[in-house]
Order: sequence, then C-alpha cells, then structure tokens
Amino acid sequence: MAVFNLKVNKKNVQVDVDPSTPMLWVLRDHLDLVGTKYGCGIAQCGACTIHLDGFAVRSCITFVDSVGDKEITTIEGLSENGDHPVQEAWMEHDVPQCGYCQAGQIMNAAAFLKSNPHPGDEEIETAMNGNICRCGTYTRIKAAIKTAANS
Ligand code: FES
Ligand code: FES
Repeated sequence: MAVFNLKVNKKNVQVDVDPSTPMLWVLRDHLDLVGTKYGCGIAQCGACTIHLDGFAVRSCITFVDSVGDKEITTIEGLSENGDHPVQEAWMEHDVPQCGYCQAGQIMNAAAFLKSNPHPGDEEIETAMNGNICRCGTYTRIKAAIKTAANS
C-alpha cells in the first residue's frame, strides 16, 4: 500500500492503495465516485472513460501510480450542474437507454470536442468507435455530438 495525493474534480484527495490499483477502482471504491463504470476491465469498451488533464483515458487500465499530479475529471465533475454542452445535447436527444455506457460516452465525446470543436461525421464515428453501447444508442450519440458542436 502507498499514499497517493490526487486531484479529482478540482478537489485534493488522498488515498492509501496498492500502487497497481486501476483508477476505476480508486474512484469507485475509495472515493465513492460511482458514475464511472466497469465494463470490460481491458480497455475494450470505454465505459470507464475519465479525463486526465482533459484527455480521455480508460480508467480500468490507468494505474494510480501513473497519474502523478495530473487533473482527474470524472462524469461527476464534468460540469457543476450537468450543464456541459455535451450533457445538454444528450438530454435534448434523449440519448441513454439503460445508461450503463453513457458516462463513458459523454466523457469521450467531451474530450473529443475539445480537441476538434467542429467535427465531420466520419471524425465523430472514428472518435467514438471504441465506446461500446449494448443498447445501440449510436445514432442518437452522433446526433447529440453534432448538436453540442454547434452550441
Ligand atoms: S472497463 Fe475500461 S474500457 Fe471497458
Ligand atoms: S445505453 Fe445501455 S449500454 Fe449504452
């Protein structure tokens, strides 16, 4: 075990965990931030996507000892009141079905739009390709990203 000082959703927090603990479990089990979901555990589904210094990463393979002083943002910290443009577009298009994958989808979309504010269809498809939705909400996800891009 080791103590790690982390910055999560703009707050300084401390956790005492095994250095090889994935951030997914640090967030869920030690910080009670359960919006970030476990899907596959092997970087294949995107359900666990968070931001590290604004870039989308898969928290299931991001070990706590690799984070250092990078800023971690989870779905709980993406906006203060759920009013990030991506979240608003998600509501407008009523995107979720079961909802399980959606935090990861939103976090990936938000990071993508930051790097590419006005993407074309193919760019959206490529960027979101690794985020799996068992409910098949892909059409609405794409529409919501276009709305967020134009907001
Ligand atoms: S749980 Fe991390 S990519 Fe699937
Ligand atoms: S909304 Fe159910 S898995 Fe995506």
